[in-house]
Amino acid sequence: MSPLRYNGQLTNRNRWAIKAQSLTHYPMELPHVGLGTMGIKNPDPVTTALEVGYRHLDTARIYDNESIVGDGIARSGVDRQEIVIATKLWTDSLNQEHVEPTARESATSLGVDQLDLLYVHRPRGEYSPEETLPALDRLVERGITAHIGLSNFTIEELERAHEILVHSIAAHQIELHPLMYKPELIEHARKHGYTVVGYSPLASGHVSEIDPVVRIAESHQTTPEAVAIAWAASKQPVVIIPKASHREHLRANLAASRLELDAQELAVIDSIERTHEFYPEWLGSSPRT
Ligand SMILES: NC(=O)c1ccc[n+]([C@@H]2O[C@H](COP(=O)([O-])OP(=O)(O)OC[C@H]3O[C@@H](n4cnc5c(N)ncnc54)[C@H](OP(=O)(O)O)[C@@H]3O)[C@@H](O)[C@H]2O)c1
Repeated sequence: MSPLRYNGQLTNRNRWAIKAQSLTHYPMELPHVGLGTMGIKNPDPVTTALEVGYRHLDTARIYDNESIVGDGIARSGVDRQEIVIATKLWTDSLNQEHVEPTARESATSLGVDQLDLLYVHRPRGEYSPEETLPALDRLVERGITAHIGLSNFTIEELERAHEILVHSIAAHQIELHPLMYKPELIEHARKHGYTVVGYSPLASGHVSEIDPVVRIAESHQTTPEAVAIAWAASKQPVVIIPKASHREHLRANLAASRLELDAQELAVIDSIERTHEFYPEWLGSSPRT
C-alpha cells in the first residue's frame, strides 16, 4: 500500500489514517497494568510497585503528589528509561501561557528531564482546543513530553482535538469498570490507533459490591478485583491503572490481567446495567476537585 500523503485537503478521516499509518503499532507502548497514584501520599507504594514489576505510573498535577511519585522512583533504583511516567494538566493550567510552565514544573517535581505522557485531565476550565492543543504540540517539539494524552473527552471532543493536533494522540484516559463502560470510546480508539487507559478499574474500591462480578470471582476462586481487571484487560486496545497501596494488592493486580474469562462471563459483565460514574463530567468545572 503506498503511503498516504498530506495534500492540504485532508478530511478528518484521512488525518487519522495518516497518523496511524506512520506507526508500527500504537504511538506508544503501555504496559497492560500500570499504577494509579491518586491519594498516594508517601513514596513506599510507588517503590514497591516498581519492585514487583510495574513500569507505568500515572499521576496528575491535581493529586499533589508528583514529588512523592518522583521520590518513589528514585528510591526504587529502577532505570528511568524502563518506566512510563504519565501526568496530567488540570483545568486551571490549560491556556497557552500556563501549559508549558506547568508541564515543566511537573517534570521537575517528578525528577525527570522529560515526561513520557502528558494528558489534558479534562476538557474544561481553561481548555480551548485552538490554544491548548498547539501548546501541547510545542511541548513535544521542545522535548518536554514525549507523547500527548487526553482524558475524559467525548468522541466529538476527540475528533476536534485530532483535527488540530500535529502530533498523534497517544492515549485517551477514561473511567472504565463494570459500572462504567462506554464501548463506543474503545471502538474509536481501536479504529484510530491510540490506547485507552482505563481508570478506576476497581470501581474506586467498590467492585466487590457488584453481584455478577462476585459470582464470576467465586467460580474462579479469585477476587472480584481480579475479575474486574481481567474483564477490562480483555478489551483492545485497553490498559488499566488500578490504584493500590498494599504489596499484596499491587502483586494481585499485576497478575490479574492474566486471568482468562470466557466469552459468556465477559458478556455478563458487558451487560451489567450501568448505574454509577465515580468521576462525572461536572468535576472539571470546579477549580480543585
Ligand atoms: N483521568 C481521570 O480523571 C482520573 C479520575 C480518577 C482516577 N484516575 C486514575 O485512576 C487511578 C485508579 O482509580 P481509583 O483510585 O479511583 O480507584 P481504583 O483503582 O478503582 O480502586 C482503588 C481502591 O481499590 C483498592 N484495591 C486495590 N487493589 C485491590 C485488591 N487487589 N483487592 C482489594 N482492594 C484493592 C485500593 O486499596 P489500597 O490502596 O488500600 O491497596 C483502593 O482503595 C487513580 O489512582 C488515578 O491515577 C484518573
